[in-house]
Amino acid sequence: MIIYIDKAHIKHKKVLLRVDFNVSMKGSKITDDARIRATLPTIQKLLKDNNRLIIVSHLGRPDGWDEKFLLRPIALRLHKYLPNIKLIVVDDFTTEGAAKIFEEQKVGEIIFLENIRFFKEEEDPSTSSGQEFVKNLASLADVYVNDAFGVSHRDCASITEVPKFLPHYGGLLMEREVETIGHAMRHPTHPFAAIIGGAKVSTKLKLLFKLTEKADYLILGGGLANTLLYALGYPVGKSLCEKDCVDEVKKIVRHAKEHKTKILLPRDVVVGDKNDTGKAGVVKKISDIDHNDDILDIGPESQADYAKAILSSKTLIWNGPVGYMENPEYARGTDFLYYTIAQNKSLISIVGGGDTLAAISKKEYLSTITHISTGGGAMLEYIENGTLPGIEALKK
Ligand code: 3PG
Repeated sequence: MIIYIDKAHIKHKKVLLRVDFNVSMKGSKITDDARIRATLPTIQKLLKDNNRLIIVSHLGRPDGWDEKFLLRPIALRLHKYLPNIKLIVVDDFTTEGAAKIFEEQKVGEIIFLENIRFFKEEEDPSTSSGQEFVKNLASLADVYVNDAFGVSHRDCASITEVPKFLPHYGGLLMEREVETIGHAMRHPTHPFAAIIGGAKVSTKLKLLFKLTEKADYLILGGGLANTLLYALGYPVGKSLCEKDCVDEVKKIVRHAKEHKTKILLPRDVVVGDKNDTGKAGVVKKISDIDHNDDILDIGPESQADYAKAILSSKTLIWNGPVGYMENPEYARGTDFLYYTIAQNKSLISIVGGGDTLAAISKKEYLSTITHISTGGGAMLEYIENGTLPGIEALKK
């Protein structure tokens, strides 16, 4: 059982708070700070209860210290949301200079550690230097809180090791993610629809198997759908398609039949040149695709098919756009699905994944979505396995 911070009495403690502030950046500019905003309730609660916070996060996949992956701009953004809180960034928590800062930290102040992945031990905690690193990190605090659902599928020091050395709790964001996605998967109100898009089927095979056992409708788009169309004998021209996944994909189709799950594939698609932003694509039936065509979006007839399933559903999970979003000409199918979901007022909807969030994050009616997950890979693995290493590490 996980104890979340709203049920624990964490007061006047030094709290090591693991968050996932791996946000989208362009250079040193933050392009989407949803992950920062999503952790504010946890940070505010812990501060209100007179704790001293030490915030730990990663950003990107640096190989050692790298100016390109500094968390400083992210710490500044957090400070904008908490203007009255003193926030100090510590570059290297293992130095003597840092020890003094930790000693002098006052109630209600935040110490923000620089990118934890600047230390190679974060991702390799099993070595002896890794274990020392874990103990050092744990020694900074009295209590550990994990609010980093988005990285809880990674077996790394600050996710699965530190909680072994400290009383450990889940944060409020972790609670919302685990409860909402977990409940939708365990007890969905039917009909249950899952929209899965994105480029590759190979990374989502296990997920598709799982969903064929649970969902009533499996609605597919993107490069992933091309591979299914190809496996079913349709021509896909030069579209994105993973021909070596054909056998696995056929098993998914059989599995879906056994479980009476309806797989919805595009009946028509939009083909064109993905790099040409000024020219609209051409709508074609999937049986009419020729060898030069590149499938970049679902067509209007498919939109109507998909909308019918979405409007008749009571629970929906969505991960992955159904078109080539980088070019607005091929974003229409994804936009259409979003507005259809927003119109179904009785739908419990859970949306996640970096590309999907980028597609919808600036749209109107966002409050109609029941839960926008901060997890990309983590959300998929949580759906597949019903748990994550970071969640297991929080269990008492
Ligand atoms: C994410 O953005 O999915 C998480 O922060 C995990 O990042 P990673 O894939 O680099 O481990």
